[in-house]
Amino acid sequence: MLHFTLRQLKVFEAVARHGSFSRAAEELHMTQPAVSMQMKKLADDIGQPLLEQTGKRLRLTSAGQELTHTAHDILASVKRFELSLVAQRGLSGGQLRLVAISTATYFVPRLLGEFAQRHPSVKVSLRVTNREQVLESLATGMDDLYILGQPPEGLAVTAIPFMENPLVVLAAPDHPLARKRAIPLARVAQEPWLLREPGSGTRKAVERLFAEHQLQLTPRMELGSNEALKQAVLAGLGVAVMSRHVLALHAPEQFNVLDVEEFPIRRQWYVVYPAGRPRSVVARTFLDFLLDPARDLAPPT
Ligand code: PGA
Repeated sequence: MLHFTLRQLKVFEAVARHGSFSRAAEELHMTQPAVSMQMKKLADDIGQPLLEQTGKRLRLTSAGQELTHTAHDILASVKRFELSLVAQRGLSGGQLRLVAISTATYFVPRLLGEFAQRHPSVKVSLRVTNREQVLESLATGMDDLYILGQPPEGLAVTAIPFMENPLVVLAAPDHPLARKRAIPLARVAQEPWLLREPGSGTRKAVERLFAEHQLQLTPRMELGSNEALKQAVLAGLGVAVMSRHVLALHAPEQFNVLDVEEFPIRRQWYVVYPAGRPRSVVARTFLDFLLDPARDLAPPT
């Protein structure tokens, strides 16, 4: 009978996935010698080599390949068991580190509040920053989950859409276009535009739409936050595109949502994490909570 441990199986799974001891060590927060030692113990127990070095590459032997299937089955079944315990008893302790892009501030705290109420012993932290920095954190993978308006390109990630993110054109209530219907894109392009900072996901989506229609915006002012943008719209300085979520705490009549052709731009919010990376029980529980079809996540109308 074999005597290997779950820990050794986890280490093996990470080494097989990365094809590298050092990257597996990094992911598991272990030292490289500790990873090598666990792998040696596992191979000794099984009585066959699991890996072979060909040139610079680490390859699985046929026993190693067999073991990856077994490892996936066992680890998946342990995960299911952990989740069923959580479903029965709620989480006891643990930590959830979330990173969200600026505009997500308008709904993530509410979701976290609900989650924290269900699992009071979980420590929750939220970092809000711009897209560039969210992508940097994602590349280092030190946090649990990342919330973005568009999945990153060029990074191996899993991205799950979980909520609509319609972008609308806002103007002051007394704006001359306020009562017009089906305003052509070319007409609204002539307005003075208030734009988010370069690197903002919202700004990218707006620029893409106008560029697709061979139209250019006339930027009147660039502002670094949705709040600043709203104040500038109210001051009558121009029009701006924002996520409907930004209007969450406002009376509907405070702003005018212009009826512009091609709007709203239909986007989604995504929860993203590095591909193939095992997630903590807390992170998986939060994901389940987020994706629960019973949750009403509709943006304000
Ligand atoms: P932003 O991103 O806050 O940087 O504009 C939000 C989004 O991508 O929708």
